[in-house]
Amino acid sequence: MESTDRSPRHMTTLGGHIIARESALIPRLYHDEALLALISRITHLPAVPVRDPLERHVLNTLHQPGDTHGAHTDDYPLALVLFIEAPHNPAHGGLLEYTPHTTDLTTLDTDTARRAHHRPGDGYLLRSDTTAHRVTPLTRPGVRRTVANFAYTTPDRQQALTPSAAQLY
Ligand SMILES: [Fe+2]
Repeated sequence: MESTDRSPRHMTTLGGHIIARESALIPRLYHDEALLALISRITHLPAVPVRDPLERHVLNTLHQPGDTHGAHTDDYPLALVLFIEAPHNPAHGGLLEYTPHTTDLTTLDTDTARRAHHRPGDGYLLRSDTTAHRVTPLTRPGVRRTVANFAYTTPDRQQALTPSAAQLY
């Protein structure tokens, strides 16, 4: 991806516009008022849905050895990531690596980076525009990592910063 220091994207994606056409559940959950209120309360930001239907709710699947979601920061400030599938064993990859309070992607290769393993049913809420982050490559066949990624923003930030979403979805 040009806009993120040429970091790799080896994954299968489903964009928000297709999800909106095929699923009633995911758009309803994305726009759920109680969920938005909870996110606003946790983050102390006036969280609102992203206007761009492509990027607001997406599915990302890593399913082959070497599949990875390379280093980046998001166009919008908040990401709620819900795990549908994940490798049981952390040694099989699919781990979230992140460095809080920086957009410098090179920090992910230093000991300031943190690592998290998740299970199906887990979720995390990330300050995704000011946290460098990536997903480590899958290390073996037969394991999968599928997440629903809900992007949220604030009323003053409805413009994507990069063309990356249009390239990915
Ligand atoms: Fe991200």
